[in-house]
Amino acid sequence: MAADATLARLLGAAPQLSVGILTADLGRLDDELRRLERAQMVMVHTDVMDGVFCPMLTVGAPFVAAQRTSLLKDVHLMIDEPLDKLGPFVKAGADMITFQVESASNPHRVLQVLGDAANANDPGHGILRGIAISPGTPLEVLPPLLEELDYVMLLAINPGWGGQQFLPSTSARLARVRDFVAASGRPILLGIDGGVTRANIAQVAALGADVIVTGGAIFDGTPDVDANARFMRSQLTVPAAS
Ligand code: DX5
Ligand code: ZN
Repeated sequence: MAADATLARLLGAAPQLSVGILTADLGRLDDELRRLERAQMVMVHTDVMDGVFCPMLTVGAPFVAAQRTSLLKDVHLMIDEPLDKLGPFVKAGADMITFQVESASNPHRVLQVLGDAANANDPGHGILRGIAISPGTPLEVLPPLLEELDYVMLLAINPGWGGQQFLPSTSARLARVRDFVAASGRPILLGIDGGVTRANIAQVAALGADVIVTGGAIFDGTPDVDANARFMRSQLTVPAAS
């Protein structure tokens, strides 16, 4: 089932932020989600980690289900062998599911299963499906999967925890992904995840990604979530330095 509506919405509104929720005050999840909505954010990014694929253990499908929001639920699976673990995230109302291409013995099959899933928020629509690619993974993994993809998310850090430094190699990698996507002729979103801060958001946005994931720059432990979100959004369309 295609996620055409979500894909068209995000392609038309690019670039957009997807806000990492795990650094929010999770004891006040509803309030934090309202703050993102008031700041006109579009997506909320949940980092699901199983402590096997990557060192951290975070949250699962119940946490995604607990998010009562109009934001698009962008679920990033960093779990070992996701193929048989997708159902609970689909039921939890994920609008977008990306999984680490390195985590699946058969990523093409995972994408096919996601392609058949109905969106629990609106059964008339599908779930936008993507792969996340770690910095050390050759981009040659991409061409055989393009026919099943709506979204390619490049990790600018190693999966497992926030607050890492943005890897400069991400720029050239994004350019190569763009070439692969252009050659496919398919409408595929390009994303960057990790290490995006107040200091580098304008440069990252100038790379031309459609979706930029950022967590710690918005939920930074201060009460200024709204101001942080508005600032980060304002930097998405800063004209590139001439
Ligand atoms: C890392 C996660 C990222 C990370 C982003 O494994 O996929 O989403 O939490 O956090 P920041 O934006 O704080 O680098
Ligand atoms: Zn993530």
